[in-house]
Amino acid sequence: MIKKGIILAGGYGTRLGSLTKAVNKQLLPLYDKPLVYYPLSVLMLSNIKDILIITNKGEKSNFEKLLGDGSQLGIRITFLEQDKPRGLPDAFIIGEKFIGKDNVVLILGDNFFYGLGFTNRLKKALHSNKGATIFTYTVNNPSEYGIIEIDKKNKIKKIVEKPPRSKSNLAITGLYFFNHKVANFAKTLKPSKRNELEIIDLLKIYLKNGSLKSVFLGRGSAWLDTGSAKNLFSASQYISAIEERQGLKIACIEEISYQNKWISKKQILKIISSYGKCDYSDYLKKII
Ligand code: G1P
Repeated sequence: MIKKGIILAGGYGTRLGSLTKAVNKQLLPLYDKPLVYYPLSVLMLSNIKDILIITNKGEKSNFEKLLGDGSQLGIRITFLEQDKPRGLPDAFIIGEKFIGKDNVVLILGDNFFYGLGFTNRLKKALHSNKGATIFTYTVNNPSEYGIIEIDKKNKIKKIVEKPPRSKSNLAITGLYFFNHKVANFAKTLKPSKRNELEIIDLLKIYLKNGSLKSVFLGRGSAWLDTGSAKNLFSASQYISAIEERQGLKIACIEEISYQNKWISKKQILKIISSYGKCDYSDYLKKII
């Protein structure tokens, strides 16, 4: 069982150009909410209430302004800063104390997941994780992601980071489960050619000792990129289309808390008054 989660919300978001010059990428809007609400909702839907958010140096206070200490959502959010991007495994070195002797989920602050059965699959994997678990998704552009190659029995044969040419199009998404050994393993890694600690090097350690599991997110689910202006816009359109059609919001963190019975109607009313008059408040009124 995993009860702790880390959201890595650092990085410079350089592919977004001027958009990220003054604002952290994870605070930009993905349709009607800040980007960070989406990975946060994934953790909350998995019943994870103890969350560490790692931000860039000097940017912690903006996230605190948005999310506080999480108590208004019935969860606990702590923040730590990363002085410069050193690669994904650095999250476990920074978060070593937070992880302690527990298993942990890492989710990248700019990843969008959606789909029927996604939460159930997560919960099942949370229960069964022994070493590490990754979630894979079919993509058209494998050269932009970590990729796994599998054999006929679906066993992982090879893991490669951004292969220029690849036989496989199975990308490793930005959602990872690790056991308590992860911080120690992360500390043994050496920076790659791009001068970062690579998550695939960490995964290779688990693969070598036979404890890396992969869960395939089928074509009925969505894992969308938000790294460029074009992708961010397409993802916003996707969310808008579904929300408009159903009248239900994706990644409404207050709704998730309320449904999980972590907060009361009274607490939602308090949140509504803090947001003021807007569509989001109207939605919260509707759900209570
Ligand atoms: C990182 C990982 C890559 C993974 C991707 C998922 O890529 O290195 O293996 O597929 O996240 O979003 P980066 O964001 O560093 O390009």
